Amino acid sequence: MRRSLVIGLAMGTVAVAMAGIVAEAFAQARPLDMIRYRQSAMKGNGGYLNALNAYAKGEVTLVTKDTIKAYAAALAGTSLEIPGMFPAGTDTGRTNAKPEIWQKNADFLAAAKRLGEESTKLAEVATGGNEAAMKEQIGKVAQACGGCHQPFRKPLPPASR
Ligand code: HEC
Repeated sequence: MRRSLVIGLAMGTVAVAMAGIVAEAFAQARPLDMIRYRQSAMKGNGGYLNALNAYAKGEVTLVTKDTIKAYAAALAGTSLEIPGMFPAGTDTGRTNAKPEIWQKNADFLAAAKRLGEESTKLAEVATGGNEAAMKEQIGKVAQACGGCHQPFRKPLPPASR
């Protein structure tokens, strides 16, 4: 009798502790952390796109086309995170996010999806290795970035563009 009570109490404690762990896992990132995170991820996008553009313009030659594939995969990966990177409450402070992100959210999500599609296609085209096709597809990826920034991002100061 007594023993089963002790076991019951112990199990209750474990259940409470587990509920705490689950709640922790689902806790929202703090708004400031999320804004910083998405700006870092977007800076990454900028770095990859600048590198791809340098290649497309013929300013550099690359050792392997797998490099293009890797950059494209990184862009496709970030595109999947974009929907979660703009939760409610992250519209103020040091952010260039426009209110339209939340007002026309379906359009915003479509713009994120488009980046995913164009960068996935770039990875595919890079597998084929056709130089002209890769360069053309890099242009489409760049358009997918602009297609979102134009309606959904405030103009950036020159230094962070
Ligand atoms: C679906 C919308 C969307 C897509 C697609 C998108 N961006 Fe962005 N990007 C944004 C928004 C919104 C911000 C502003 C974020 C903020 O300040 O909180 C931003 C910010 C940036 C920044 C500035 C980061 C900083 O320093 O604050 C760069 C650079 C950038 N994006 C590059 C890119 C590139 C390159 C691509 C394409 C490969 C891309 N983005 C695709 C919405 C998008």
